[in-house]
Amino acid sequence: MSLSTWTETKPDLFEEQINIETPAIVVDLDVMERNMKDYAEFADQHDVALRSHTKTHRIPDLAHRQEEYTDGDGVVCQTLSEAEVLAQNGIDDIYLSYMVVEESKLDRLVALSEKLKRFVTTVDCPGNIRPVQQAAARHDTKVEVVLEIDIGLNRVGVKPGAPALEMAQVVQNQPNLDLAGIMAYEGHIGYGSGKATTEEEFEQRCAETMDEVEATVDLLEANGVFVNEVKVGSTATSKYSGTHSVVTEINPGMYPFNDGHLLDVPHIDQDDCALTVLSTVISKPTDDRVIVDAGTKSIAPQPGFAPVSKGIDDLDYYNASEEHGWIDVGLHGGSIEVGDRLAFIPPHVCPTINLHDTLIGVRDGIVEETWHVQGRGKVK
Ligand SMILES: Cc1ncc(COP(=O)(O)O)c(C=O)c1O
Repeated sequence: MSLSTWTETKPDLFEEQINIETPAIVVDLDVMERNMKDYAEFADQHDVALRSHTKTHRIPDLAHRQEEYTDGDGVVCQTLSEAEVLAQNGIDDIYLSYMVVEESKLDRLVALSEKLKRFVTTVDCPGNIRPVQQAAARHDTKVEVVLEIDIGLNRVGVKPGAPALEMAQVVQNQPNLDLAGIMAYEGHIGYGSGKATTEEEFEQRCAETMDEVEATVDLLEANGVFVNEVKVGSTATSKYSGTHSVVTEINPGMYPFNDGHLLDVPHIDQDDCALTVLSTVISKPTDDRVIVDAGTKSIAPQPGFAPVSKGIDDLDYYNASEEHGWIDVGLHGGSIEVGDRLAFIPPHVCPTINLHDTLIGVRDGIVEETWHVQGRGKVK
């Protein structure tokens, strides 16, 4: 929409949202639901489970909604306390895509595993396999684990091929651990300095990476290690990797909302972005600069990416301090006044949600739902 069109329609567009105190996170429910449905349909078509990563929002109600779209494929968490919040709110199938090594935390982990219909955690080396085994033995129970393979991100994970086989056999030899399968997160193809840029590059690199995953699965199975589950996938890559026959499950997290840094991914554009940070112009120091009330405490910074204006073209969010956002309004400064509302797609949705207490769900400009970010601060 051009600025002049926006100015004419401004009172209607923001009639309801004008009552929302800012800065606030506003979710367009039509777009969010379309995104959830779209990924669920993709998963159905390609016969993979869609186990959504809830680290993005940490909201049990949204996890339940994702479960409805997938008929209960379960969810993923990145911290134990995030998982506990979901479990306390009725989610009963959780994969923890993270290593837990402290004894007291492992007591909590085993308790969670006992309580839920299904709970699986992650290991990648003897240093984290041993404490999970000891905790399970201490409580006279078994814990399901997934072996993480480093397929190129160079973060955690055992290398594919022979090292993965050796580590899988270490897991197999633990009396209180059950190996559910492997996880290979190919985030490096979607994000960071080495990311793919074109559709063809995404297709090719994801296909090659999944071939390498398949070779490891074949090696494990040829040596008597049955790999029931192969978990992969980010929001940027799930739709490419998820077409490979070795994959049983995709784990994207940001897909209900999308964000500014995902706009570089070929199949994601602004219309797919469901979440914006609504701000208010609090000052107009010059004709071409306004200041909004959304700085880095309400829009998490992401190196190399600025918040993107939604609804008005040519607004440049060019600098931020904690409570101030600097906007270059260029030639259109005459149309924007103190008190006006400006909406921005955050560069990275996960840490942005983590800054707020609530998410506001809007349909056709009318507030329909609000969610408390119950997992906010749950980093332990
Ligand atoms: C292991 C793992 N799986 C899945 C995801 C979800 O990917 P995305 O945030 O791109 O949706 C993440 C995100 O960091 C992750 O670390």
